Amino acid sequence: MHNLGDPATQVPILAKLKAAGRIRYIGITTTSKGRYGDLARAMTEYPLDFIGIDYSAANLSAADEILPLARERGIGVLVYMPFGRGALFSRASGRELPEWAADFGARSWAQLFLKFVAAHPAVTCVTPATSNPKHMLDNIGAAHGRLPDEDERARILRGLFTCRGGW
Ligand SMILES: NC(=O)c1ccc[n+]([C@@H]2O[C@H](COP(=O)([O-])OP(=O)(O)OC[C@H]3O[C@@H](n4cnc5c(N)ncnc54)[C@H](OP(=O)(O)O)[C@@H]3O)[C@@H](O)[C@H]2O)c1
Repeated sequence: MHNLGDPATQVPILAKLKAAGRIRYIGITTTSKGRYGDLARAMTEYPLDFIGIDYSAANLSAADEILPLARERGIGVLVYMPFGRGALFSRASGRELPEWAADFGARSWAQLFLKFVAAHPAVTCVTPATSNPKHMLDNIGAAHGRLPDEDERARILRGLFTCRGGW
């Protein structure tokens, strides 16, 4: 159900299709912070398999209520806009990737940003978009190696947003 759709109408239809084996999962999406309340309501009122939501190091709002709720209810999380629509690349522009990124296997800024998102315990799947095959290979590289732990995730945020120029 794209952009929240109309779950009161759509969920019963989708549930029948799921019972008939025509579809496997039922999900609902939004990338508007102003609609997170409606999303949270849908997550508690309907039998959803997954949600799709915006979340990145540049946009942490989903972590306040939605991601904990998804964990609590066992709902999968598909993350949209993991680079903040490219805003994170502007923030990192002209800066060296910190050496400690190698500790969790990140060899580029893109991999660091993707691993930041994938490491959130509620996140099931991350969907970066690109029109560039080289970027696609770079992004696939984020699937290798371990993920950053909580301290490393906090360090990523501190470096990006509080002490420009140094970690
Ligand atoms: N409600 C919804 O269902 C909904 C809403 C919003 C978004 N989405 C989906 O979420 C996905 C991602 O969203 P998005 O495209 O808005 O944001 P995004 O993935 O955060 O950012 C895409 C931007 O990052 C750049 N990029 C990607 N890989 C890179 C790399 N390795 N190095 C440098 N730059 C890189 C891309 O440029 P290049 O093309 O030059 O690589 C593009 O400008 C899409 O599949 C979109 O369809 C769904």
